Amino acid sequence: MSKFKRHLVTSALPYANGPVHIGHLAGVYIPSDIYVRYLRLKGEEVISICGSDEHGVPITIKARQEGVTPQDIVDKYHGIIKKAFSDFGISFDIYSRTTSAMHKETASDFFRKLHDDGKFIEQTSEQYYDSEVGQFLADRYITGECPHCHNLKAYGDQCENCGTTLSATDLIDPKSTISGSKPIVKETKHWFLPLDKYEPFLREWILEGHKEWKSNVYGQCKSWMDLGLQPRAVSRDLNWGIPVPVEGAEGKVLYVWFDAPIGYISATKELTPEWEKYWKDEETKMVHFIGKDNIVFHCIVFPSMLKAHGDYILPENVPANEFLNLEGDKISTSRNWAVWLHEYLIDFEDKQDVLRYVLCANAPESKDNDFTWKDFQARNNNELVAILGNFVNRVLVLTGKYFDGKVPASGELTDFDKQMLEDVAKCKKPLESNIENYKFREALKDAMNIARIGNKYLADTEPWKVIKSDEERVKTILNVALQITANVSIAIEPFMPFTSAKMLGMMNSEPFGWERLGDTNLLLEGHQLAAPSLLFDKIEDSAIEFQVQKLESAKKENLAREYVSEPEKASISFEDFGKMDIRVSRVVAAEKVAKTKKLLKLTVDTGVDTRTIVSGIAEHYSAEEMVGRQVLVLINLAPRELKGITSQGMILMAEDATGKLVTVTTDSDVKEGSTVK
Ligand code: 2FM
Ligand code: ZN
Repeated sequence: MSKFKRHLVTSALPYANGPVHIGHLAGVYIPSDIYVRYLRLKGEEVISICGSDEHGVPITIKARQEGVTPQDIVDKYHGIIKKAFSDFGISFDIYSRTTSAMHKETASDFFRKLHDDGKFIEQTSEQYYDSEVGQFLADRYITGECPHCHNLKAYGDQCENCGTTLSATDLIDPKSTISGSKPIVKETKHWFLPLDKYEPFLREWILEGHKEWKSNVYGQCKSWMDLGLQPRAVSRDLNWGIPVPVEGAEGKVLYVWFDAPIGYISATKELTPEWEKYWKDEETKMVHFIGKDNIVFHCIVFPSMLKAHGDYILPENVPANEFLNLEGDKISTSRNWAVWLHEYLIDFEDKQDVLRYVLCANAPESKDNDFTWKDFQARNNNELVAILGNFVNRVLVLTGKYFDGKVPASGELTDFDKQMLEDVAKCKKPLESNIENYKFREALKDAMNIARIGNKYLADTEPWKVIKSDEERVKTILNVALQITANVSIAIEPFMPFTSAKMLGMMNSEPFGWERLGDTNLLLEGHQLAAPSLLFDKIEDSAIEFQVQKLESAKKENLAREYVSEPEKASISFEDFGKMDIRVSRVVAAEKVAKTKKLLKLTVDTGVDTRTIVSGIAEHYSAEEMVGRQVLVLINLAPRELKGITSQGMILMAEDATGKLVTVTTDSDVKEGSTVK
């Protein structure tokens, strides 16, 4: 850190079109918060900047869907997001928003300077235009038939059925989602930042100058550059955003990815009149915390903008994380496949640190990772309760019991005592180095190691036994254990600030400061501790099952919503149809086929005969539910062998969107053997 005097830490500005979830926290905000808390504890000059990203097309779409204005949408979610961050102890120095007046002015000035300095090129291109509403259409505002899978509801940028990336002009029979009319193609002018011109600078700065960046970040930058950088439009035809502040730009706004990173500058200006020292002084170390989908904007586009402007410093590092998945699937806001922060706190009141811990321990630092509720429970019960909570509680309870909660005087230390205290002190260096190198998972292990050492110390010294014979020795043991406890409270603060504060409360102490980590005399002899309480409690299976059920319901709702009927089959002749012999039948007996999950063995009266049919419906109907039921049976289907039973025919079933099977029957009772035609 030596060549820098101060730190400017930014965290990606979340879009204000929905609440934040665990993926956001794990990918960006927990790492940045650990980093800034650590720097603050060390007494470094640091500011942590964030805010809501409130422009862009998705916000206008959401507003249209809900029949409100884009401002209503961002006001609502800005409030929800800001509160969630504060509830989880994410300690930004400012949480601003890109609809602020300061931001409008800053972003406009930035654009104007680049414009006046001749840094942009102007280009005219053809775009879809809705002449009924008089508006150019962003790709998301156009739907049509996917040229690949023929889904009729593909968007201009992507088909969500087959996942193909599209451009609006690929769509068959495009329609405007605003008016439903067929859009026309019209010329429009935009301002472009010629990224190709910045390629030599970027190659030198990143590929030569920042080989230490995380390999996922460095690798992505290299592949972008190897593909060749192209000019990028920095304006859009849209009526939501910051108006392009030059003449001849009516109806055009700054592209959201142009104004959003400038939001870091605007927020710093709002925070402090000394903002320039953070943005314009080479002795400031700027670090951007982001997710991997933001790499190109923070490593290529924004630095090119800063370079073009000329007054600003560049980031020293961009420690982007990969993605966090949830129970094996990609987290998705629109599919409600997420753990929302505000909902978590309703179900797990006051357990912010449990989530902070689990998300850091399992952070997607070098590859995508999976969050599962089982792992959450295991880490809480086996690590936080069993290691950290257990150690601290035992030390404080024993001190209360034997010495009225007063720190006992230490006698002479044994070699083992000394060894343990040395081991604690040794945790400091790797812990610091890991945080400074953005390896927060490892750093968390280093911090937890101190509690592990404490547990080992208690297990080996057994003060609860020694008290019977040697009270003086117990004084020393608990003094040592209390010093370890105080060290734990320092080491865990960046990761679990609520727990650290609770520990300080129980130790009746003020924060010790990072530099005292490793100190063996943090709690002085005779110091009165406060009453202890549990730091963590066990999470029961029922709480976890409840969460899993919640996700199951979301999955079912998604299946139902996204259900696309099977495409129509090729036509057949009437004769083909006539070959099928379908009869009204009645189930007269039923039993589960042993050692299978899905199969029922049914005895069916077809009116023609009584026969056996094996049907894969056991997950939908019990044997009892089937007995007596009238069903339709394809009786001339060639017999098939299933689990050693010959099945003669097939019960007709309808399959709903979620894969649920339902029997098909007649409107009123019909005699068995009646034909279906
Ligand atoms: O990906 C996102 O959520 C963006 N809103 C991040 C913007 S970061 C910065 F540039 F503002
Ligand atoms: Zn498709």
